[in-house]
Amino acid sequence: MSLKDKCPIIEFSDLGDERGKLVVIEGGTGIPFDIERVFYIYGSDATVVRGEHANRESEFVLINVAGTSKVRITDGDEEIIVELNKPMMGVYIPKMIWKDMYDFSEDSVLLVLASTHYDGKEYIRDYAEYLEIMRKNNE
Ligand code: TYD
Repeated sequence: MSLKDKCPIIEFSDLGDERGKLVVIEGGTGIPFDIERVFYIYGSDATVVRGEHANRESEFVLINVAGTSKVRITDGDEEIIVELNKPMMGVYIPKMIWKDMYDFSEDSVLLVLASTHYDGKEYIRDYAEYLEIMRKNNE
């Protein structure tokens, strides 16, 4: 399966009307996991790179609910770059995928849905170690 297929773009429905927009995200429908945690990142800018890790256990959906950012996603083999530029789209990131978030607009609010509670021990923050694990997994 290509990395693009592993990390699909999710388009949310617009339930808005003349009063404004409304986007609903419900666990189980549209999101391929039960949502255990939500966090959001703001106050970053175009000079900052965040993420720079892979997670052994957690799956994520990233949504720029305001502003824009980019996500560089790799499995150590392929790389894709997704621009998150509308509140009605997200990108799904499964376990063991490396991601960097960057190029944040000043008004960027990056909402992250996660499948787990936070556990720092499940993070791989060394890219060389990540590549080695992926190489072994692919043997
Ligand atoms: P970090 O993983 O570096 O953020 P990012 O992936 O956006 O670059 O997290 C920053 C700090 O926040 C770090 O000390 C861990 C802590 N943290 C939590 O306690 N819970 C969480 O759910 C997250 C995402 C981070």
